[in-house]
Amino acid sequence: MSTILAIESSCDETSAAICVDGKIVSNMIATQSIHEKYGGVVPELASRAHIENIVPTVEAALMELGIGDWDFEIDNNVKETSISNIKYSVLNSIDAIAFTHAPGLIGSLLVGTQFAKSLALALDKPLIAVHHMQAHVLANLIAEEKPAFPFLCLTVSGGHTQIVLAHSPLHLQILGETIDDAAGEAFDKTAKLLGLPYPGGPLIDKYAQLGNAHAFKFAEPQISELNFSFSGLKTSVLYFLQKQKPEFIEENLNDLCASIQFTICNILINKMKKAIKQTGIRQICLAGGVSANSGLRKAFELLGEEKACKVFIPKFEYCTDNAAMIAITGYYKYLAQDFVDLDYSPSARSIW
Ligand code: KG4
Ligand code: ZN
Repeated sequence: MSTILAIESSCDETSAAICVDGKIVSNMIATQSIHEKYGGVVPELASRAHIENIVPTVEAALMELGIGDWDFEIDNNVKETSISNIKYSVLNSIDAIAFTHAPGLIGSLLVGTQFAKSLALALDKPLIAVHHMQAHVLANLIAEEKPAFPFLCLTVSGGHTQIVLAHSPLHLQILGETIDDAAGEAFDKTAKLLGLPYPGGPLIDKYAQLGNAHAFKFAEPQISELNFSFSGLKTSVLYFLQKQKPEFIEENLNDLCASIQFTICNILINKMKKAIKQTGIRQICLAGGVSANSGLRKAFELLGEEKACKVFIPKFEYCTDNAAMIAITGYYKYLAQDFVDLDYSPSARSIW
């Protein structure tokens, strides 16, 4: 038996999850909407919001497990006592505490790390450091139906774009990654050029559904091996828009979004085709926030049909940043007894 409490705080979501014997039983996420008006995540504001959110988010995760497991009657007279009893009982049943140690905003990472360390010290339980990008890949192991090893994973988020070969839960190999912007950044930055608010990815997706994907053609970079580049696309869209009349965007928004989305998806799918050919692996997974994109999901399913591959896409709540993916990775690390000391430091850079 193992019960892992996990904490994720690498960017602008504060999340806590609990994994019991490899099954996610609780996953709470507090989203920070404060960044919208600034057009991007403001690191200092993110750290402050994590500090405000972390205790209630962890408590909510503990309560969900507590109520689900023990079926407490909450009598109003003894409500306070019952709630602390639940939290106390659940805390005592925890075998280890997992936290995101890299990569991310250092102030944000520090909040989750310090919280996890304090809890580990107070409860005298082992501490597990989890790499955020490994966790995105292992989100594919949350569902009942899991990919068989080895599998390929296309991880597409706001900060990363990678093709990963998973040999086993804890042996992951990066086959290719972006040399500049991530796929999510390509969505968000081009959306900004179209005058859409941050984060623009979901809005491009929405308008693209009403547009013609072949209305406009944007540059697709020729990058060697399995690496990606998205900064040229942003420039290509910028130069194209600079040549148009002021009303052009408004009149062509749907077609512009559909064409941009098509170009980003094409770049991603072509590299996956190459990876499938190079490795001969026929289990393919998606991960990261951009896997919510409807065009990419469709293109990925089609790729599976075309190349006779079995396709896996995690539930939406496990694609964007969440602690359930930290908890499932923590579970495999717990089985391997892969623990860290209390003096372990988080890192903003992506040390795999
Ligand atoms: O994985 P994630 O939640 O956070 C990071 O670790 O970065 O990914 C966030 C990214 C943002 O760039 C956001 O615009 C993008 O995922 N995104 C989408 C969609 N939903 C989220 N991009 C395109 N279409 C979507 N439906
Ligand atoms: Zn992420």
